[in-house]
Amino acid sequence: MQRIYLDYNASTPIDPAVAAAMRPFLEGHYGNPFSDHWAATTAKAALESSRDQVAGLLGCHDDEVVFTSGGSEANNLALKGTFFALRDKGDHIVTTRIEHPAIVEPCRFLERLGARVTYLLVDGTGRADPDDLRKAITPRTILVSIMHANNEVGTIQPIEDCARIAREHEVLFHTDAAQSAGKIATDVNALGIDLLSIAGHKLYAPKGVGALFVRRGVSIEPLVHGAGHESGRRAGTESALLAVGLGKACELARNLSPMDGVRALRERFWQGLQRQFGDGVVLNGHPTHRLPNTLNVSFVGRSGAEILARLDGVAASTGSACHSGRIELSPVLQAMGVAPQVGMGAIRFSLGRSTARDEIDAALERLSDVLAVAE
Ligand SMILES: Cc1ncc(COP(=O)(O)O)c(C=O)c1O
Repeated sequence: MQRIYLDYNASTPIDPAVAAAMRPFLEGHYGNPFSDHWAATTAKAALESSRDQVAGLLGCHDDEVVFTSGGSEANNLALKGTFFALRDKGDHIVTTRIEHPAIVEPCRFLERLGARVTYLLVDGTGRADPDDLRKAITPRTILVSIMHANNEVGTIQPIEDCARIAREHEVLFHTDAAQSAGKIATDVNALGIDLLSIAGHKLYAPKGVGALFVRRGVSIEPLVHGAGHESGRRAGTESALLAVGLGKACELARNLSPMDGVRALRERFWQGLQRQFGDGVVLNGHPTHRLPNTLNVSFVGRSGAEILARLDGVAASTGSACHSGRIELSPVLQAMGVAPQVGMGAIRFSLGRSTARDEIDAALERLSDVLAVAE
């Protein structure tokens, strides 16, 4: 049975060019990049050229890139780091109801410390309304954090409009670009934002590495205190190995042209599903403002988890979970107002650079076999 991987939003394989760039740092170049002797030279140079590659993807200065252990840490640093740095100025944060737990949980934590958080509603396609943001900002607002693209349904937020509103009110703007980097443009100046998170393993680098863009002039309190690594913003000896992986992945991700092929395969998949199941299948997410690789669909009246369990060899994700015999929709689908009998049938298929046409056709065929059988 051919194994078919359609869960690139969960994690990507390491690109062979990324692995090749990392290998010399696995086998040698062990020096501490902070040391002053010969053993440090290669590691230090690699760390800085990796930073330059990350900055190249984001369109920022090298000194605006802080390496982290991944998207979760980058988000935590953005939210908590800003809150702790600006505590005297205000205590209010605005975000949305469809953020990843790596935003929601730091917000909940900050609420326990006295922060006030507004969670903006989204429409049925998962988009927040910039006017709602305008209304939510108060003189106590210190930060707006709105994800660039949603991990479950792929909906892309109107970040430029939202960032403009934040800037008019002199409020910092953060976006979680863990899912968008490498799939759509993530130029920080075009977006008009102050802080942006990326996660290595969503863009063909290893797990356990990510980065936070922090615009020059924006000060954040570090979460990890120690020696002055990452210009005092994140203590801990940097891993040249992981930085090189992220840097190479970012260099490759600047070329968005592979996404044309990915989008075409995603459309082939969607058209095939509509042909096979007609009204029995509906799209979750925005029809156009959506990541080119993401296809979240509901098989109406069926259980997404059941379908996936029977879909031998196909790796994908559901949008619902069964808790004590009760189907519970994901917070994202709930926030979008998806009806339970539709949401319980949700499956997220996410394609990647190496997805092939025969995999999509085989997945369609297996779905047709599984759905022909009554549950
Ligand atoms: C939108 C989003 N933000 C943040 C994260 C967390 O990234 P990491 O796994 O690198 O901590 C993820 C991962 O699923 C994500 O999809």
